[in-house]
Amino acid sequence: MLQITENQVQEIISMEMALSALREAYKECAEGKIYAGGRIFMPIRGQENVGQWLVANCTEKPYFGAKFSSVFPQNVPTLPSVISKVSLYSAVTGELQALIDANYLTAIKTGGSAAIVTDLMAKKDASKLGIIGSGLQAYSQALAIQEVRNITELYVYDVNPERVENFIYQIRKIQNHPYKIIASTTADECVAQSDIICTCTTSLTPVFSGSALKPGTHINAIGSFTSFMQELDEDTVMKSNKIITEHKEGFWDVAGDLIIPLNKGLISKDKLTGTVGEVLTRKISTRENDNEITLYESVGSGVLDIALSIEIYEKFNQ
Ligand SMILES: NC(=O)c1ccc[n+]([C@@H]2O[C@H](COP(=O)([O-])OP(=O)(O)OC[C@H]3O[C@@H](n4cnc5c(N)ncnc54)[C@H](O)[C@@H]3O)[C@@H](O)[C@H]2O)c1
Repeated sequence: MLQITENQVQEIISMEMALSALREAYKECAEGKIYAGGRIFMPIRGQENVGQWLVANCTEKPYFGAKFSSVFPQNVPTLPSVISKVSLYSAVTGELQALIDANYLTAIKTGGSAAIVTDLMAKKDASKLGIIGSGLQAYSQALAIQEVRNITELYVYDVNPERVENFIYQIRKIQNHPYKIIASTTADECVAQSDIICTCTTSLTPVFSGSALKPGTHINAIGSFTSFMQELDEDTVMKSNKIITEHKEGFWDVAGDLIIPLNKGLISKDKLTGTVGEVLTRKISTRENDNEITLYESVGSGVLDIALSIEIYEKFNQ
């Protein structure tokens, strides 16, 4: 059994490789060549800290696997709030083939997936990116989305201004061209300036007001992954013309941003338009005009984690 460390993952993985592997995984998922099993979710000593297992199985490649993540929003300062590892198994012998550190892998997967969706759904001339939250997922959203649109301004807001300072410092090091980076004083100001919004927080309650959204905005909602977490207010969900997610398995158990308005009778389940794979394979359409508000409700996906892990494992073995 191989152990692949965070440093080794970082050496192997590139955004270009991730975008290609994730696009392929979405297509394979739409064709049933890889599918997600039910996720296991456990509150750990209260609602704030959770453990989560995401699983996926390939029907043609010889692999199945699981990603375990601990999400401890107020973790001790020396540790990240999300800690993840992938176990990759052989579908021929059932053996554990690799244990892969998956903090960076998760961030690149999450950013890469949002970039693929942004490329499909955002306006072609979208150039102003707004990010709410300034942790690891926020970083990977900027890293990935700058590859699919010509960003001219990046707005960032976080309840913790020190984290914003560090975020700006880190983004300056990885910008693919010298766009402006601006710290917004409120989340609504960040949203009002932006064509593309990414919410990447650990918040349990909405982080901006739907009334601040411009027509034509594309939103990547990354942070909420339980039935009781809501980063988006009901107004935002109700005014979204198209809502897509990674895959439908388990969606209505975990997508708090939609479950909360559903339970209030404000939307029905057909508010979910479909999956990223369905847009990529043209089973459903992308935005139809420059005024539509489009939403990618990301709840995490074992399919993407395992597909990217397979790519890393095979490259590591070459
Ligand atoms: N969709 C996915 O596939 C996926 C993958 C990985 C992580 N996540 C989730 O994304 C979230 C962020 O992860 P991370 O690793 O970046 O965490 P992190 O702890 O590094 O960063 C979260 C940031 O959110 C900020 N924040 C909290 N409440 C806020 C609010 N109301 N307004 C503005 N900022 C606020 C915090 O100050 C912090 O800087 C977590 O909930 C995590 O579980 C989702």
